[in-house]
Amino acid sequence: MKNSIYVFLLGLVFCLSCQTQEFEQGRELYLFYCSSCHLESGQGLRSLYPPLAESDYLAKYNETVPCIIRKGMEGKIIVNGKDYNAPMAAMPKITAFEITNIMNFINKSWGNDLPYVKFVDVKNKLEECK
Ligand code: HEC
Repeated sequence: MKNSIYVFLLGLVFCLSCQTQEFEQGRELYLFYCSSCHLESGQGLRSLYPPLAESDYLAKYNETVPCIIRKGMEGKIIVNGKDYNAPMAAMPKITAFEITNIMNFINKSWGNDLPYVKFVDVKNKLEECK
């Protein structure tokens, strides 16, 4: 009985630290792949690159973000009331696991408070991106 309490506590501590690690990995991947355009602060760059910080587009279309990252995007979009229309390049080599961690970093950074995304959901979504 006593042992099972220890096992439970150990599991809890492990799980908390694994989530922290995933968030850290997401941050590093973001800095590597995304910050050149969306900036370290998530603010984007003038009328060229849209913000991810408190982006209404990000909140509204969160489930499409795996496809945006994997396949890129182009065409006019409106983010927080401003028009953007420059292409974002596809990143075909980025894995579902990496995308999950990047999304969980973005969803909880710079004032964003969007739901946690699960690896399985990202993986399934990636299978149906056009
Ligand atoms: C070369 C510059 C560039 C890089 C690198 C880049 N993006 Fe983008 N991103 C853009 C542009 C430009 C748009 C707007 C596309 C349009 O107008 O259709 C965009 C749009 C978006 C959007 C939807 C609009 C919004 O602001 O909410 C998301 C989400 C996004 N990018 C996430 C990412 C993530 C995550 C990465 C890294 C994995 C990344 N981008 C890397 C240029 C870039």
